[in-house]
Amino acid sequence: MTYLLSLHSSTRQDKSFSNQLLAEFEASFQTQHSITDIRSRFTGDVPHLDFEAQAAGRVPEAKQNSDQKRAFALAQELTQELCNASALVIATPMYNWGPPSSLKAWIDRIVNVRTFYQNSGELADLPVTVIVSSGGLYSAGENTKHDFLRPLLVEVFSRIGVRDLQFINCDPAGPMEYGRIDQFAPESGFSKARGQVAAAASRVR
Ligand SMILES: Cc1cc2nc3c(=O)[nH]c(=O)nc-3n(C[C@H](O)[C@H](O)[C@H](O)COP(=O)(O)O)c2cc1C
Repeated sequence: MTYLLSLHSSTRQDKSFSNQLLAEFEASFQTQHSITDIRSRFTGDVPHLDFEAQAAGRVPEAKQNSDQKRAFALAQELTQELCNASALVIATPMYNWGPPSSLKAWIDRIVNVRTFYQNSGELADLPVTVIVSSGGLYSAGENTKHDFLRPLLVEVFSRIGVRDLQFINCDPAGPMEYGRIDQFAPESGFSKARGQVAAAASRVR
């Protein structure tokens, strides 16, 4: 066992519903598995791909020259961190029907020659949990057809060989954000999501 890789994307710090649920997930994971090591990353710190990095990410590692290795270094670091993890949890808001661009920047680093083109198979048994908070209800009902966040993540993770992907849905967050319902009321989107945390955190490889 190594560590829990924990990503967060909301800039709302402790006001963020996804961040609060992430803290509960981490605590539950540590209790259930006695893994104390948590590698935390704020996706806002991941720079978008530049030309050199995206080109290098498509060259087989063994054939990369020194410039390409340098351009690929951050992708390599993030990919290695992902491949070594015991589990991955991502906490993210929905922004404009999709992921925050910073989460997409992380995705654009970890989908690369190693995970996708060479498909190393290293992620086959990695449990991945995604905590999603959105203002409206998008995980069920009429709005599901406008949800481009979950389908994108399903596609990305299946393409790189992940077979165990679960979502924890904190929605609708709007009524809690605007004080129309108490966050801790049993019928709130937050309480619904909270009820799914322990089972999701029980998964480890
Ligand atoms: C830039 C921006 C775009 C947003 N777009 C959507 C959206 O498309 N659909 C939605 O339901 N909520 C949207 N929201 C609301 C957030 O998803 C909601 O506030 C969520 O709770 C934020 O997550 P957090 O509490 O973890 O910060 C948006 C908020 C921001 C700031």
